[in-house]
Amino acid sequence: VWQRMQKTQPAQTRNQALGLLYEFQHAAATPLHALRQIAEHMAIEMHAGLMTEGKSNLLMLPTFVENLPDGSEEGLFYALDLGGTNFRVLRCLLGGKEGRVLKQEYEEVPIPKSLMLGTSEELFDFIAKRLVDFVNREGEEYRIKNKRPQQVRELGLTFSFPVKQLSVKSGVLIQWTKGFKIADGVGADVVTLLQSAINRQHGPKIDVVVLVNDTVGTLAGGRYWNDDVMVGMILGTGTNACYVERDLPSHAPSKKGEMVINMEWGGFWSSHLPRTYADEQLDNESVNPGQAGYEKMIGGMYLGEIVRRVLLRMAREASLFGGPVPAKLREPFILITPEMSKMHADESGDLRVVAKILRDVFGVQKTELPARRIVHDVCDIVTMRSARLAAAGIVGILKKIMPDAFDSGTSGSLKTLHRNSMVAKRGDSGKIVLAMDGGLYEHYTQYRIYMQAAVNELLSEAQAKRLVIQLSKDGSGIGATILAACHSQYRGQSHK
Ligand code: GLC
Repeated sequence: VWQRMQKTQPAQTRNQALGLLYEFQHAAATPLHALRQIAEHMAIEMHAGLMTEGKSNLLMLPTFVENLPDGSEEGLFYALDLGGTNFRVLRCLLGGKEGRVLKQEYEEVPIPKSLMLGTSEELFDFIAKRLVDFVNREGEEYRIKNKRPQQVRELGLTFSFPVKQLSVKSGVLIQWTKGFKIADGVGADVVTLLQSAINRQHGPKIDVVVLVNDTVGTLAGGRYWNDDVMVGMILGTGTNACYVERDLPSHAPSKKGEMVINMEWGGFWSSHLPRTYADEQLDNESVNPGQAGYEKMIGGMYLGEIVRRVLLRMAREASLFGGPVPAKLREPFILITPEMSKMHADESGDLRVVAKILRDVFGVQKTELPARRIVHDVCDIVTMRSARLAAAGIVGILKKIMPDAFDSGTSGSLKTLHRNSMVAKRGDSGKIVLAMDGGLYEHYTQYRIYMQAAVNELLSEAQAKRLVIQLSKDGSGIGATILAACHSQYRGQSHK
């Protein structure tokens, strides 16, 4: 980059642009020793969050989900998946152990920005209307196996925000994340909000029978096929994980002695996290400043925006694109992560994809190759940091739930704390499967490569072999239909 810049730009701006790149690279670095500290800290905070009920920045919310699917679930179930820029409605016909998922359909609807900042009634009315339209379009073939009283449809609600659950089918919203800000939503029971909106439609009878986080839906969707699934994780607009816990505190009363815990790990914070000026600015200008610090370094909603902020500074202070700062570069969230990942994946010698996206998104008509290389490097740094931080979080979970196998223990403290852990009891040689959903993981190849590489750096070879990260595509939605089946009031009755 340096040599090429020497030819094309005056020395002073060349120096400045590269100086800013190196400065950012340094501030965003995730060396192995920092990742180890983060993993250790994650495991310790998991314990603290569980025991102190809300006093840790990891909320560690009991989900009241104790019954996970085993494949025998049967019947027609719906799900509504709300939690990102789109919401989805799904129907799924389950055929028991032999048939499994016999038939499924879904529809995805973008949520208008205004509804993310309006009132809860407006948001839920919009959603309920689309849901009812979708249910009304249910084909005959779905009904055959669902002869229930008055054709009641049972629905699992996937609601991907922090919720304090009061039971498996009720819970109040603690706070919005991921750019949503609806004042009257906080403190409200989200199932009541949805159920009332459905009732206002005067359509078919739809009962919400289970309320889950998307991570929990993903865990259940994975468990449906594979008994070894212990962790559910999302790398999408936001990021989070849940897992099956056996050392339960008293505020998580369980009949079975094990329950899924929603970590809300987006709220995790550690002084070892590599925070840059771009993260600080992004946080200050966000709808939830001071919150969701880990998520703002990892989630797909933010990666493109971090890149934009770095480029803006380079354009301002080192005329990265020559001439004045392009107006569109000042516009928050104009660079979405899928576009950023296309720039990152550009392998052409002259970085023509980077040039095209800079033109299409920021209106920068002409760019020099050295500037494009810098843009490519910024995408790489931001992506690598996200993937490595997520990997450290995964290793933190492993340390917590399988201390004997994964706590190589700088401190060894967790081993003593968690002798009793459920997964440890499954034997030290088995696999531990993590079901993963979310566009960032699914669509971004280089992301997956960086994440797996960091997991491998953090674990011994034998440990790494035991961890299986399995893409569970649309797991969060399908998992909610399956959990609706597990919590159906008609469970055990024949649907045939
Ligand atoms: C945010 C939400 C969390 C969700 C995650 C992934 O972190 O607070 O509930 O699981 O995004 O969608």
